[in-house]
Amino acid sequence: MATVFSGVQPSGDYHLGNYLGAFKNWVAVQHENEAFFCVVDLHALTLDIDPSELRERTLDLAVTLLAVGLDPEVVTLFVQSHVPEHPRLAWLLECTATVGELNRMVQFKEKSSGRETVRAGLYTYPVLMAADVLLYQADQVPVGDDQRQHLELMRDLAVRFNNRYGRTFTVPEAVVPKVAARVMDLQQPGRKMSKSIDSPLGTVGLLDAPKDIERKVRRAVTDTDGRVRYDPEAKPGVSNLLELLSAATGVSVEEAAARYDGYGDLKRDVAEALISLLAPIRQRTAELRADLGEVERILTAGADRAHKVASVTYERAAKAVGLFS
Ligand code: AMP
Ligand code: TRP
Repeated sequence: MATVFSGVQPSGDYHLGNYLGAFKNWVAVQHENEAFFCVVDLHALTLDIDPSELRERTLDLAVTLLAVGLDPEVVTLFVQSHVPEHPRLAWLLECTATVGELNRMVQFKEKSSGRETVRAGLYTYPVLMAADVLLYQADQVPVGDDQRQHLELMRDLAVRFNNRYGRTFTVPEAVVPKVAARVMDLQQPGRKMSKSIDSPLGTVGLLDAPKDIERKVRRAVTDTDGRVRYDPEAKPGVSNLLELLSAATGVSVEEAAARYDGYGDLKRDVAEALISLLAPIRQRTAELRADLGEVERILTAGADRAHKVASVTYERAAKAVGLFS
């Protein structure tokens, strides 16, 4: 049995990219592994977020993760700030990472570009992420393709720490899905799908009404070639639709491509598949939102379990670097 860890920021507006790139794969591995899933509220502080919104979104992300099918009987679902070892280990790892390494992080460059002021926490973000995972001695980290570089850094930090201070951490690996590792925006298939405020028509929200899903898929940008073929380079829009169909129904992209002569039929089936995929999530979300007390109880129990594991690793790391205790 492997140990699995992953996290997601409570940024609101969860979309198909989050679901197919990450959440769905968390649900798929939860029964065969020891799994920890974390609402990373400390990471959310790296960008401007209203305090009351952060509080609300933290609980609502837990609702979403339960609604997509995480089973609190088998996984440890918790909030990052409830386990104080996360920022404590992050400091030890900040003193392991180098400025040169952090300067190379593409997500930092993207998120900081064009801003007048950039929070120092945005810069050290990947180090806190490394602490998240290393505290649980995780073997596998299921994430979307955009997190690969952070995972490489995490591995480098674990190896360096182990070499310098003696074996302390398991060196984790990224597990990226074969299809839909990078779900693209329906309007701009050259960029990844992200929060709906950036691109309302290009993003399918997990809670979108069927008629909105239908409309967004119908309006998805394709090309003028007219042939249904999987070729992400030459035909990014059509290939994205094929990946969505594949991820939602389980047929391969090539098999899916062979079924269609034109874009109209393909879009109709993609919309239908996404509507059935998301319907149970919408319903479950509504049920859970009506019983937030239960969700809070799940998070409290999760934090207790997480803390037990995290404190053992933290104490070991603190002792290894020579902190007096
Ligand atoms: P975030 O919302 O950025 O915290 O991402 C949460 C998880 O969703 C991470 O594992 C990401 O890699 C994944 N993810 C986010 N956007 C996409 C996308 N467009 N396609 C695939 N996976 C994604
Ligand atoms: N950086 C991740 C994202 O934006 C979220 C995250 C924080 C995470 N800590 C993590 C993912 C630990 C996996 C493991 O998607």
